[in-house]
Amino acid sequence: MHAIPEFKIGRVPLFAPIRFARDPLRFLRQGFDECGDTFKIRLFREFIVTRDPAFFRHVLQQHHKNFKKGNSVKMLRPVLGNGLVISDGDFWLRQRRLVQPAFHRERLQELYLTMGDLTAAFLDELESFRGKAAIDVDAKMMGITSDIALKTLFGNMNTEDKEQIYKQVSRTQTYLVTRVRKPYRLPLMAINGEDRRFKSDLTYFNSLVYDFIRKRRLSGETPNDLLQLLLDSTDEETGEQMNDEQIRDEAITMFAAGHETSATGLSWLLWELSAQPEIVARIRAEANVFEKTPGFEQLIQMPYTRQVVEEGLRLYPPAWTMTRESTVDQEIEGYPIPKGSSVFMSIFELHRNPSLWDNPYAFNPENFQADTVKNRAKFNYLPFGAGPRICIGQQFALMEMQLVLAALVKRFDFVREPGYLVGLHPQIVLKSTNGIKLYLR
Ligand code: HEM
Repeated sequence: MHAIPEFKIGRVPLFAPIRFARDPLRFLRQGFDECGDTFKIRLFREFIVTRDPAFFRHVLQQHHKNFKKGNSVKMLRPVLGNGLVISDGDFWLRQRRLVQPAFHRERLQELYLTMGDLTAAFLDELESFRGKAAIDVDAKMMGITSDIALKTLFGNMNTEDKEQIYKQVSRTQTYLVTRVRKPYRLPLMAINGEDRRFKSDLTYFNSLVYDFIRKRRLSGETPNDLLQLLLDSTDEETGEQMNDEQIRDEAITMFAAGHETSATGLSWLLWELSAQPEIVARIRAEANVFEKTPGFEQLIQMPYTRQVVEEGLRLYPPAWTMTRESTVDQEIEGYPIPKGSSVFMSIFELHRNPSLWDNPYAFNPENFQADTVKNRAKFNYLPFGAGPRICIGQQFALMEMQLVLAALVKRFDFVREPGYLVGLHPQIVLKSTNGIKLYLR
């Protein structure tokens, strides 16, 4: 065994956390440049940081039982409760079995109809922005993906509640990330109203979801949405069903995990495509198979569009990192990993690791050409994670992104304002610094 190289920044202990908080991606890149694919770093506590696919395979698949989410998701617990993203062990396994059927192919095919209708309406709504001032692409993508998430989860929701939710989700994310990255601000947040606003946002959100559950139970109706599936799902062994709190936790988890990720992925794609006319032309050529929005069966006739989506998730992985806590003393790739260690796996850096990808910073959908994919090691590309805890919504997200992207590109030109710069801003998902703004033509 050999020691993990340590990435050290100056002698003052606060230097590293402050630099990390300011610009996590640049800071970690420096660590990889200086130390190689795995290193340890002391922020407020110690982390083992990696972009080595062998680490991902060990942690997520081969020895997943030797890890738990543990501390890494503590900050999300007040919002996500004990939902799938947070839970561990037997409870997680039971919940995963209960929720999994919601994402079977036949169910997805039904949910796809809702996605298609909402996307068609979204295209018409965007028409009024054609030829006008640049649009805030992030906000528009959040609009369509949260409409899709809310409708496929809960059925119909009034516009006022929807708008309130959009506002609160972004506020809540900023609040949670600040607490973790800048713990020295905690005393200030307790008195400047941020803690209070977070609590009131959460109360509002909870009451909305419990209200949905209660009304649905009373109505006797059984519409075809994810909430109904959660209400109906029964443990095969015990015959047990989820109580209201568990349903709340899983519903909020699906909403939280499932809309901003796809929205950010779409925003980055539109940003890239606004500088890639040849790729746009190839997507449009495939888009001949449909009129306004592609049907479920037509997705398969658009393999190049799918490659573009996959390349977007490589270069700009919305879930840019995953963390686990080791539950035993173990060894990974010759490095000692003591019990209690936090392993921080950077999907962002895995996808840009120069020893795994040719020309890693270029946007190149040929990376996902069928033969190239066949010859690539599975653990080099993990936008949805891997192993038993792989994203439950992977297929949902891929079809949603392919649908929305193809429909938008067929109908509109997205044009950059000359000189407008966009930087990477990793929050819980990989956002942009200045927001993505594009003209619609
Ligand atoms: C582009 C879109 C998406 C990306 C990039 C993404 C990414 C991920 C990743 C990387 C994980 C694994 C986290 C870990 O192992 O620590 C994950 C888990 C999860 N995702 Fe997604 N996701 C996306 C969309 C969705 C959607 C649409 C849903 C639900 C409708 C969803 C629900 C979940 C859930 C519930 C988990 C936890 C699974 C478990 O631990 O059993 N995600 N996602």
